[in-house]
Amino acid sequence: MPDLDDVQDGKNYHIGVPMQSNAFFLKGSNSLDWGMKNRLARVFNPATAKTVMLAVDHGYFQGPTTGLERIDISIVPLVPYADALMITRGALRTSIPAEMSKPVVLRSTGGQSILKELSNELVAVDIEDAVRLNASAMAVQVYIGGPHEHQSIGNLVKVVDAGNRQGIPTLAVTGVGKELARDAKYLGLATRICAEMGAHFVKTYFCEKAFARVAAACPVPLVIAGGKKLPELEALKMAYEAIDQGAAGVDMGRNIFQGDAPIAMIQAVRAVVHDREKPDKAYELYLSLKKDAARTGPSAAVPNRSRS
Ligand code: R5P
Repeated sequence: MPDLDDVQDGKNYHIGVPMQSNAFFLKGSNSLDWGMKNRLARVFNPATAKTVMLAVDHGYFQGPTTGLERIDISIVPLVPYADALMITRGALRTSIPAEMSKPVVLRSTGGQSILKELSNELVAVDIEDAVRLNASAMAVQVYIGGPHEHQSIGNLVKVVDAGNRQGIPTLAVTGVGKELARDAKYLGLATRICAEMGAHFVKTYFCEKAFARVAAACPVPLVIAGGKKLPELEALKMAYEAIDQGAAGVDMGRNIFQGDAPIAMIQAVRAVVHDREKPDKAYELYLSLKKDAARTGPSAAVPNRSRS
């Protein structure tokens, strides 16, 4: 029985004060539904409108990649420093503690290996399983110009439609075949097609010339992949340039987990992405964190589940 004595006339109606209506902080996302925006606001930090995603999904086509042989040992300690984790459902269920609170960007296409044609993918996760895993986004590889371009765009469309029904955003990842140039013309074509087909954010590569045009012409947030392992300072410079020219963050894998000091590196990347730290300064931070880690010893590499 409700306590009727407690029902009083309210006073704070703020008559004359217009209802607050704020624009959503990510580009191209203002017209999305609440759940979709809420999930995007978990992947991207609303304070900076940027993200440092940690990509560890490489095993889905290349098996036990260097640095990912034991995700439970090498990746779990990095999770607290990432804004989001890009991962397959198999690695998530087997190797990541469910107590961690970071948003998951679930690898949702696959079906080939490095031994075969990489663009020959299919949708590899049912939307129900993405919901079951509490995914904050689903990731789909799109191979513009590849032998299976049409099929990969079809995969994107299927995942976007399924995700739209559940309020789960889709990340389109531009897979670039070896025969294609990773220049602004190609990347502009690929990223724009992904956004026009309904991707809510897009992952692509940085290019030295005219990356700003790629970012400007993509109407949704763009994050860059790290690519092959580079010396740390070079990787930090690349991240800095990308952010400076309009990227909304990084989705970096090998340049973090294949280094000598992954925890130091991910913190240096965060400094560049979220604090706009210059690459030289971020590199100094990397070196000092690396030194500290060397002093504290190998215990830093042991998963500390209380941190995530
Ligand atoms: C794309 O093929 C996958 O998502 C990769 O696993 C990821 O993009 C690789 O990230 P990185 O190039 O930074 O190692």
